[in-house]
Amino acid sequence: MSLPAHFPELKAIPADLKSALSSEIIALGFALIENSDPKAEKEFKLVGSTLLLKSIGETFEIDILDELKFFAPSGKAGESFELPISAPDAKVERLLLVGLGDQSLAAFRAAGATIGRKVKGKSQSITSFCATTDATAHTHAISATMGAYLWNLKSGPKPLKPTIAISSSAVALKRAGAIAAAVWRARDLVHTPANIKTPAWMASNAKAIAKDRNISIKVLAGKELIPFGGLNAVGNSSRKSPPRFIEITYAPKGSSNWPHVVLVGKGITFDTGGYSMKRPYDMMMAMKTDMAGAAAVLSVVSALPELAPRVRVTALLMCAENAVSATAQRPSDVITHFGGTTTEVLNTDAEGRLVLADGLAYADLKLKPDYLIDIATLTGSATLGLGRQYAAMYSRDAKLVAKLSEIGLESGDRVWQMPLIDDYVDSLESDIADINNTADKGDYNAGSVTAALFLEKFVGDRKWVHFDIAGTGRSEVDAGENPKGGTGFGVRLLTTWICSL
Ligand code: BES
Ligand code: MN
Ligand code: ZN
Repeated sequence: MSLPAHFPELKAIPADLKSALSSEIIALGFALIENSDPKAEKEFKLVGSTLLLKSIGETFEIDILDELKFFAPSGKAGESFELPISAPDAKVERLLLVGLGDQSLAAFRAAGATIGRKVKGKSQSITSFCATTDATAHTHAISATMGAYLWNLKSGPKPLKPTIAISSSAVALKRAGAIAAAVWRARDLVHTPANIKTPAWMASNAKAIAKDRNISIKVLAGKELIPFGGLNAVGNSSRKSPPRFIEITYAPKGSSNWPHVVLVGKGITFDTGGYSMKRPYDMMMAMKTDMAGAAAVLSVVSALPELAPRVRVTALLMCAENAVSATAQRPSDVITHFGGTTTEVLNTDAEGRLVLADGLAYADLKLKPDYLIDIATLTGSATLGLGRQYAAMYSRDAKLVAKLSEIGLESGDRVWQMPLIDDYVDSLESDIADINNTADKGDYNAGSVTAALFLEKFVGDRKWVHFDIAGTGRSEVDAGENPKGGTGFGVRLLTTWICSL
């Protein structure tokens, strides 16, 4: 199976020193020992088997606890400092001491990101003994590869490939590797600029992924898109990069009676806003990332053959560019979605819901899934409400909400339920069509909520969840698990959830 370019070599090793002697860096976790007396000297403990810690101390002739006492770090998860070490016949040059905070899964992720960042783009190898259980090793390993992520189109020397070895069972690490590679794949797609990633380019990427893995794929273009009024109206704004509907399915032999999940992703390869243009223009700069939902669902499916859940999964990528041209839709146009619902387009910048509407209606009417999930960089309001660390989640299904919230915390892709406020539904009224797309009638000032209410018109009676990832899909800073740019948000959440069904 092909891995993303520059994806680290990820391997499982037993928790013994022998496995680490050929790597340049050994990472050990430490934590602060809680002390009831705040004035007392800080006390530390190392995490890992006593035997391993003893052999590291003896081989490298170092008293690590003494060093910790001397440096007196805060113990915060992800904090780190290095000590030069060496021993005959060992390639090891450095000991990286990494804070494990409260030793929660989140703390193991923060430590993982620190470890990945150490070797990012270098042909170095690092061995982490931080994790001592499969659950912590799994999340630690994913975060380590996420921290090692990099992407650019510089013409100079290519980044080198690090090796990240994690003390873990082989099974846990294989699954972690499959999810981490999917996160990388999503990030690569999001980082790619819009002059390269046309909807047709997205389709050829999806085809390559499908071919590689025995996944089926259907791509619709041109006249075939006439029933998809939203996708067509938005996407035909670009003559050079016309729209594509991409349906990619994981359905192994014998899967016909397994639960069926349909994932719908917003795939706007660039969002100028159309004639209702984004202003100030700075707001437009980041809009190559407006396909982060489509990138996530495609990448989720890419990981499934390896994760092998007993669930059928279909991803629908609604790919279009929202451009300005003579063929662009006008504010005041009325369009007909898949299934017949009509929408008055009052603002061409509320284009995400137009393309998602077709995807959701197609899923409901044609695919009849047990679960219908959409994920989209849909509204600036989602970021206003929750910032960049939590995605907004909308659903009427309390059980699903509880499960997804929990898996969000556990996987690191955190989500927070927002309400589908029925009182605001009249914001969607239109004098001349079934609904309008700006949903600002009544001045409710709840853009993320009314966008979700718009989408709900297209989901029939399905168990439906909508994720607004406008805040989480992209990071403004290069820090922790995330590079500046695409985060791959949703891949960990959705793969983990699917595997839990
Ligand atoms: N792609 C944007 C939402 C967005 C904004 C994502 C900032 C990431 C960062 C979406 O298409 C959009 O323009 N939404 C409008 C809707 C409005 C016109 C009803 C918004 O949120 O302002
Ligand atoms: Mn827009
Ligand atoms: Zn958009």
